[in-house]
Amino acid sequence: MTWNQTAYSVGVEEFDAAHRKLLAVINLILLAESEGNLETAQMAANELLLYTKEHFQQEESWMRHQGYSALADHAKRHEEMTSEVLAFRIELRGQREEVLSRLKTHAPRFKKWLFDHIVRYDKMYASLATKGRD
Ligand SMILES: [Fe+2]
Ligand SMILES: [Fe+2]
Repeated sequence: MTWNQTAYSVGVEEFDAAHRKLLAVINLILLAESEGNLETAQMAANELLLYTKEHFQQEESWMRHQGYSALADHAKRHEEMTSEVLAFRIELRGQREEVLSRLKTHAPRFKKWLFDHIVRYDKMYASLATKGRD
């Protein structure tokens, strides 16, 4: 799955950039998994947590500023996703072989997770961003 501007743009350039950055980190985790490179996977998982937290905070503060009515629900989904990344990082600790097999099972779901969230929830605030532009 690659970036498709028409399908995934939320109308806020800064957030599109953050989503592309998250996708790049997830792709790095998947690549590291396919190469059996645990150290890179662990490093990328740390970055994923960092970027996820940063992006969610920025999105929520923007939505608050815009008076977005679905903010509470959206923030709850962000919280669930953050917990998943935290759990994933814990899964990357332990015996090398075990960790690599857990990585193989769990890493691919992050891509789906990101795109599902963008298409189902982030796109819902896109109308706020484009409102008043035309
Ligand atoms: Fe979001
Ligand atoms: Fe987002």
